[in-house]
Amino acid sequence: MYNVKIYENISFLTEETTMILMPLNMIKEGMINAKPIYLSEDSILLDEGDVIRDRYLERITELGIRSIYVKDDSSYKKSIHDIIREELRNSSSLSMEKIMGNICYVDEEEVEMTRDIITNIIEYLLTNDDILVNLSEMKAMDDYAYEHSVNVSILSLIIAIKLGYDKEKLVDLGVGAMLHDIGKTKVDLGILNKPSSLTMSEYDQIKKHTLIGYEMLNDIKNISYDSKIIALSHHERYDGSGYPYNAKGEGIHELARVVAVADVYDALTNDRVYRSRISTDEAVDYIASVSGSQFDSNIADNFIENIARYPVGKGIILNTGFKGYVVFNKKNHVSRPIVRILYNNMGERVKIPYIIDLSETEDSIKVVGTTDDIELF
Ligand SMILES: [Fe+2]
Repeated sequence: MYNVKIYENISFLTEETTMILMPLNMIKEGMINAKPIYLSEDSILLDEGDVIRDRYLERITELGIRSIYVKDDSSYKKSIHDIIREELRNSSSLSMEKIMGNICYVDEEEVEMTRDIITNIIEYLLTNDDILVNLSEMKAMDDYAYEHSVNVSILSLIIAIKLGYDKEKLVDLGVGAMLHDIGKTKVDLGILNKPSSLTMSEYDQIKKHTLIGYEMLNDIKNISYDSKIIALSHHERYDGSGYPYNAKGEGIHELARVVAVADVYDALTNDRVYRSRISTDEAVDYIASVSGSQFDSNIADNFIENIARYPVGKGIILNTGFKGYVVFNKKNHVSRPIVRILYNNMGERVKIPYIIDLSETEDSIKVVGTTDDIELF
């Protein structure tokens, strides 16, 4: 028998955290919603505690949301921390929709709006210092339009806070990250959304979003050079393989080097028209594999050290053959989550599910794979 600690009563399992994140296709009528779902900044579709009905599920699907939090009716309680308050995320996405939706130009007022959003996000991140380990949960929260800009900003800011940036630099970074793809508003949608591979000339047009974005921001007075340069340089790569100028190493602005990592990570972990998303651990592996070549290793390694490889709710397979899913990620143990075991090594459901803290098992028990084939209830 393995020497593991089985938790019956652990302190992080508190009253207020009895919810679970579930993919929409597993949600059934009658389940209880655990977190508000917003239609707009001031309109709620479903509040915490509301009973989920089929008609709501249809609406949620229309909104493009993939997963929602429901009250956990199993016998244990688990902790889920938000990356960022749901309302703040939603209002950020809506503001970005407004900015990017009617754009032929960006003006000072829109930049100011972006700065306000970023300032709120920074305040939030700075007051929640365990935010990093649960980073990957943000993926499944919602799919509202323009979430990519918001995600890239949050990820970039999280990296930057760890790197010790001051407030002013954080604001420049956040504003630039939020507007990094603004140039795409002027690229032909048919090319941007083309599901098949691009011709050389189509790819050249997409690449131009960097130069176009920089030009769009260039005439605006209340945006800093450091923010603008992010639009221009976020596709440059540390080894010189990027665009538009094949800039290299320290020759790429530091803030653009941060956004490059966040941008790629978020792109990989989201569905695109031309490919499906990959899992968090695969995306982390990818970032690790190109750290030092495509990405500044200091930035990429910092990112990897602070992102949970297996997000809460993810089905995992242990080296012992037992299977379960992640209930919590601890700081400084990003690949050793606390897991709830549901199946033994014969594939049979265990009589009484139990919890193991893999941060305390060293190498005797570890995660060796992930699975989507776990019945949670
Ligand atoms: Fe881009």
